[in-house]
Amino acid sequence: MAYAEGPRSVVFRDFAHSHCDYRETGSSVQDRGAFFPFLPQRNNTITMHIEHLTHSDIQLWSRLHQVGEQIGRTPLCPVRRLFSKKNVQVLVKKEWEQLSGSVKARAAFFIIKSALANGALHRGKVLLDATSGNTGIAYAAIGQALGIPVVLCLPENASAERKEILRALGAEIVYTSRFEGTDGAQEVARELTQTYPERYFYADQYSNDNNWLAHYHTTALEIVQERPDITHFVAGLGTTGTFTGIGRRLRELKPQVRLIALQPNVALHGLEGWKHLETAVVPRIYDPTLADAVEEIDTAEAYEIIRAAKRYEGLLLSPSAAANLAGALRIAERIAEGTVVTVLPDNADKYGEVMKQIF
Ligand SMILES: Cc1ncc(COP(=O)(O)O)c(C=O)c1O
Repeated sequence: MAYAEGPRSVVFRDFAHSHCDYRETGSSVQDRGAFFPFLPQRNNTITMHIEHLTHSDIQLWSRLHQVGEQIGRTPLCPVRRLFSKKNVQVLVKKEWEQLSGSVKARAAFFIIKSALANGALHRGKVLLDATSGNTGIAYAAIGQALGIPVVLCLPENASAERKEILRALGAEIVYTSRFEGTDGAQEVARELTQTYPERYFYADQYSNDNNWLAHYHTTALEIVQERPDITHFVAGLGTTGTFTGIGRRLRELKPQVRLIALQPNVALHGLEGWKHLETAVVPRIYDPTLADAVEEIDTAEAYEIIRAAKRYEGLLLSPSAAANLAGALRIAERIAEGTVVTVLPDNADKYGEVMKQIF
């Protein structure tokens, strides 16, 4: 981080992402709420009055900056062998190539950064959320780096690999009913927050605007900067942060781009990270007006793509990454020309049981 110390202020430059622009001059720690609300600004600078900052504040923000450098800017790669058609390209953003190995690093980082900035999270508070995996791993990795304790409400049937990773990263796990999925885990997290409001900062990824804003400010811009010729964006819905954030920014920058949301075709599916919105609790951040079209993906179709992506592209994909690719390929088959982009939320590393079934 380039930070310059003036007589009365510390200036954090190029904070977190060069394309995440924050500027707030003359703020103080008492006035933290003014730092972000992540409105697009011209300059990547935060200035804080030094007289209000303790040494540990400066250390924390400096660490936060170092963590931010390991998040985002993932590669956007063409699919060449699995799909080939004149005038149509399919591109995939490999989101596992960042801290904690998944797309959720972006949302977790924005949620934590914003909570630190507005004072909702501070030393002495514990970060609490409900998660089926990737967001929890991202919270735990960032929490570990910043010295912030993390408690996660996790359905008890989460895979052994996930539990092991979370434990190794020092997160405390509260197991919730296997029959109620992440909806039940959210209920338990809410109850804990109501019982111990002083103890917990409830990050609430399903309702927290910083979830989709992470993608609005980072992923969408990365895509447009690299592929200004994008014509279609395709992604599945979990918390819906990825689709909402990227979709909203594309609507503003490239209004002609078609936004296609993906859904599992049945309530009981194997696309971990996705929600069947007709039968699940709909996340507060979901925007039903955004998608131009919704396509359904069958788990068996995603498993087929896992096999094909390994064979033709040398990629070992998670079920939801394969489902996103299945959706992108379906759209690419239908069009005569265009550039179809999707994200691959994570790879197969945490899905040993599924891989055993498939290979
Ligand atoms: C593996 C995986 N795929 C897809 C998603 C869906 O992303 P979003 O929550 O941004 O809708 C998630 C979210 O947790 C995930 O972990």
